[in-house]
Amino acid sequence: MEPLRPKIEQLVDELLDRMAAQGEVDLVSAFALPIPLLVISELLGVPEEDREPFVTWADAVNGTEHDPEVTQEAYAYLRKLVADKRADPADDLLSALSVVAAEEGGSLSETELLHNAMLLLVAGYDTTVYLIANTVLALLQAPEQLAEVRENPALLPDAIEEVLRYDSPVNISSPRWAAEPITLNGVTVPAGQPLLISIMSANRDAAHFDDPDRFDIHRDKSGRHLGFGHGIHYCPGAPLARMETLIAVGKLIERFPGLGLAVSSDTLTMRDSLLIHGPASLPVRLT
Ligand code: HEM
Repeated sequence: MEPLRPKIEQLVDELLDRMAAQGEVDLVSAFALPIPLLVISELLGVPEEDREPFVTWADAVNGTEHDPEVTQEAYAYLRKLVADKRADPADDLLSALSVVAAEEGGSLSETELLHNAMLLLVAGYDTTVYLIANTVLALLQAPEQLAEVRENPALLPDAIEEVLRYDSPVNISSPRWAAEPITLNGVTVPAGQPLLISIMSANRDAAHFDDPDRFDIHRDKSGRHLGFGHGIHYCPGAPLARMETLIAVGKLIERFPGLGLAVSSDTLTMRDSLLIHGPASLPVRLT
């Protein structure tokens, strides 16, 4: 992940320069979105000129209005990309995975390789957009805590960790199937039936977190959140997402000491998705 740091810093600086000229922007589209898009494209080795449709593709996969045609378009592109990497490997993750897949007796089939590419695209992009946006929103709504973070930037990682709990960018886990009948709150889920586990609900569990609806960057970290999941499927992108958000939000609040919401927070609407949680747009004033 570390070799990506200078590229992220450079992009963030360029975006901030561009935004400064505007005075008021939608922080999601102007800032939060381009950063993970660059990172995941660099990681997978997607040529610059091919990156734009990724936004529509991630939307098609993560949105509530699932559009199978757009998903097919995304798969067709990834299939071609995998073939290109195989023919001419470069220094990126998809090339490395293609080599593993091509090895005799390799542990990754062609189909698995394709689905892993799609998983990385979907898991690594939209999620981080909303960790950045939700962190900015939470801090703007807690001005005293924002002032503390400005005063002492070493507190920013704690603030990001608290956002992962308080305003988790990923709403639900991927499906699980009950291995045996489970009874929860008087409802029995029969063996073999699917379950969607609400990460956001677990992260606001009053039996686990004191005053769970309070955003508190000084919260005791021993009550670990589930923002990146748990166990064998724990998010492998967590260090990258934390790094991107730390650079992005750190530079944003340093550059704009008078950063503020340009609309009242009760007019914000949420992104239309069962999986992804965050504002559809976040209009901010930049001073
Ligand atoms: C703020 C950003 C992110 C959040 C909140 C997040 C959250 C999660 C969560 C909750 C899971 C577990 C899902 C489950 O158990 O069903 C997960 C899995 C995963 N994440 Fe992330 N993620 C983020 C960023 C990333 C990034 C940047 C990447 C890749 C570069 C990534 C790749 C993955 C993959 C591949 C899995 C599946 C792991 C498995 O099933 O074994 N994620 N993520």
